[in-house]
Amino acid sequence: MIMKQQRVADKFSEPVNSKTGYENFFDGVVAMCDNRVIDNELGELLKEYVSEWLAHNSLAEFDNFSDTAYSRTYLGRSKSGWEAIVMGWKRGNTTSVHSHPQFAGYNFADGEFRVEIFEPAGEGRARLVKTLEIKAPLSLYSVGEEGQFDNHIHRITCLSERGHSLHIYSDDALQGLTYEVVE
Ligand SMILES: [Fe+2]
Repeated sequence: MIMKQQRVADKFSEPVNSKTGYENFFDGVVAMCDNRVIDNELGELLKEYVSEWLAHNSLAEFDNFSDTAYSRTYLGRSKSGWEAIVMGWKRGNTTSVHSHPQFAGYNFADGEFRVEIFEPAGEGRARLVKTLEIKAPLSLYSVGEEGQFDNHIHRITCLSERGHSLHIYSDDALQGLTYEVVE
């Protein structure tokens, strides 16, 4: 029997949070993204927009940390699918090995992180190809296939006492797939 590959949502059972007060920031994201091609040029624009915003706005009020998982707080979700999420991290919090919608931008605001990047190895498995050690501030993004949720497989782990990151996705990130790691 072939097991159905689990989604990020299947492996994330923490409460869903959202915060108001970030409408201007999120409207700026949507204005930049709607009705245009998702490509590296857009990735660079978003990276500049988000890192500039983070340089002037602290994420300290996102203090809903948990021992068991990173926290997710939605700043906005658009009709077209775009979403912005702040993640709050404690040392040792880690994601599943998971993939993404067409666009995934992850902007480390404060803290230190390990980002492991994987390649697909078939049948819901993935193989590690690269490990990055990151000191915030730093922004990364990936552009993949339209309409797919199996783009850019990675795992993020928090290495500092606390940390925050701000993520921009072109579609519901909880629909990303999860993977079993193989050597
Ligand atoms: Fe991710």
